[in-house]
Amino acid sequence: AILRDPEFILGAAEPHQFPKDELVEVAFAGRSNVGKSSAINAICNRRKLARTSKQPGRTQQINFFTMGESARLVDLPGYGFAQVPLSVKKKWEITIQEYLAKRDNLIVLVLLMDIRHPLTDLDWQMIKWASEAELPTQILLTKADKYKRGKVASVVLSVEKALKVLPGQFGVEAFSSQSFLGVNAMRAQLDEWVNP
Ligand code: GTP
Ligand code: MG
Repeated sequence: AILRDPEFILGAAEPHQFPKDELVEVAFAGRSNVGKSSAINAICNRRKLARTSKQPGRTQQINFFTMGESARLVDLPGYGFAQVPLSVKKKWEITIQEYLAKRDNLIVLVLLMDIRHPLTDLDWQMIKWASEAELPTQILLTKADKYKRGKVASVVLSVEKALKVLPGQFGVEAFSSQSFLGVNAMRAQLDEWVNP
């Protein structure tokens, strides 16, 4: 029910543009092109709520969406995209870091990784940061439609195993915006996080 009528609120390039932090937020983070914006659209059952693109580097601001009356979804720019000029990359990285570090209303981080390339160095940086910040983190292994079921299950297991070295609350699920694998589970999760 919290995902009924989601709406775009605003895009922020600088922290002073972030909306007031009176509502809880769930943020979608991950490398460029892993499917963050597509996942938000699939979960919200809207084709063009968040802008997507074949070209990495599509999302260039922090985009905020309503999630019911008491929460927001946040679409972060992707990290690790080499083709963006360094100056722009630094600016995004700083904005993402400021968002993650300063948002007291951030309740869950949804970290997306392409199931074919999980746990890159930058993903580990993010995971370690979330562990230290004691921020519950849901990992979505995206584009699971690219693999057969057995392979999907084995990657999920190996990522779960790799995360055991760290303290913290980590969930790992396979996800596909194309086949809708994991979409209902995420909707239920969001409901639970926002209305515990
Ligand atoms: P940035 O905003 O650049 O960081 O990218 P993003 O993580 O928001 O990715 P986006 O949702 O724009 O998707 C990138 C590309 O991956 C697009 O061409 C999507 O169609 C494709 N894609 C996204 N999700 C899936 C999926 O589940 N399966 C498949 N096969 N392709 C997907
Ligand atoms: Mg995007």
